Amino acid sequence: MDKDLGSPRVVVGVTGGIAAYKVATLVRLLVKAGIDVTVIPTPQSLSLVGRTTWEALTGHPALTEVTDDAAGVAHVRIGTHADLVILAPATANTLAKMRLGIADNLLTNTLLVAQCPVLVAPAMHTQMWENPATRDNVETLRGRGIHVMEPDSGRLTGEDSGKGRMPEPEDIAEQAFALLGMRSDLAGTRVAISAGGTREALDPVRFLGNRSSGRFGIEIAKKLLARGAEVRLVAANVETALLEQVRGARIERLSSTAQLHEAMDAAAREADVVIMSAAVADFRPKDVASSKQKKDGSASRILELVENPDILADLGHHRRRENQLIIGFAAETGDERGSVVDYGRRKAQRKGTDLTVVNEVGDATGFGDVSTAITVLDSHGQTVAQASGTKAQMANVIVDAIAERIYAAGGEGSARDYTR
Ligand code: CTP
Repeated sequence: MDKDLGSPRVVVGVTGGIAAYKVATLVRLLVKAGIDVTVIPTPQSLSLVGRTTWEALTGHPALTEVTDDAAGVAHVRIGTHADLVILAPATANTLAKMRLGIADNLLTNTLLVAQCPVLVAPAMHTQMWENPATRDNVETLRGRGIHVMEPDSGRLTGEDSGKGRMPEPEDIAEQAFALLGMRSDLAGTRVAISAGGTREALDPVRFLGNRSSGRFGIEIAKKLLARGAEVRLVAANVETALLEQVRGARIERLSSTAQLHEAMDAAAREADVVIMSAAVADFRPKDVASSKQKKDGSASRILELVENPDILADLGHHRRRENQLIIGFAAETGDERGSVVDYGRRKAQRKGTDLTVVNEVGDATGFGDVSTAITVLDSHGQTVAQASGTKAQMANVIVDAIAERIYAAGGEGSARDYTR
């Protein structure tokens, strides 16, 4: 899987076991980690958990038959595009079909087509699990490289108990993350991140703004989610299509600098890490007209501006929580008085950040453009990372630098001190 091509895609195949209801929790955990999940229920399983549940949780149709979405060739498309297929709960019946290559519904078709790893979470009565037929099927499937988890022991569907319970959703999710190459080293870390660019109204239809698309912040949010962080994304004028890529984050949409300041102030009070990746308008019009301004015949107009507060400097110098890690950006072009990194260093000191991501911007680089070069500085202006490439690759470098700082500060059992 190339993680930089977007969110990992996972197919969750649900078969007709009573544990199907627990798979709703599994799907939520996957979605929360930024994974693009599609559920394929078997027709029998729909009497246990309905299609609507799966569609609402994933945002994708939950198809069951080979003939569903024939025009889109769903029975081939879904399996070939998947990075991982999870079968949960997997009944003895479906395990037997898998072994034989029977393709009698969309799920079993998808299993035949999939080239990616397959993770199986069995759920059945102890006798069925221990039956020589099932043992033989499981051995054969494992021999083919299918990851068949051991069922848990405990209370089964009826009065009986024994081995055969579906593994807990959290355990299945953990295995899935491992198979997808996702780390969960930021699990429990709460991050507030701003993205996009603020706009300052001139009148009801016009504004002063900038060309920031928000893509960099979105890429960083995706990487954070993939590593288990809890992400609150404060999005200033970011296109809906981009925001839809960030599954699992709490998203707040707003427009002006004043709104962004208020939202980041609130978010920072509950965050371990604060990232200001939004391009903030430094000035706003002194007066905002309440009706659309007309051409009044004069050849020119003077626009009076007032300076906006510096949100990052406020968050950096007046920490909302102890031991909070503050990350700022410095978009620079450099000039005869200093290089891109010189200016970044001065900005880091002025704003009181723990890490500063300096990136070069100009007509052809930085904004919206896919490729970028960054230097990450610490609070002393020392370079801790330097790299260039796509924004998705740079997002990885930044998240690595954040994780490193968190781990350097957080010894086992000790209070974390992210700052230095
Ligand atoms: N920033 C902010 N509030 C502002 C201006 C900028 O929080 N009013 C934050 C940005 O989100 C970014 C960092 O400060 O993380 C640097 O932004 P940048 O536009 O590079 O710097 P400015 O402070 O605007 O400085 P200058 O325009 O003089 O380069």
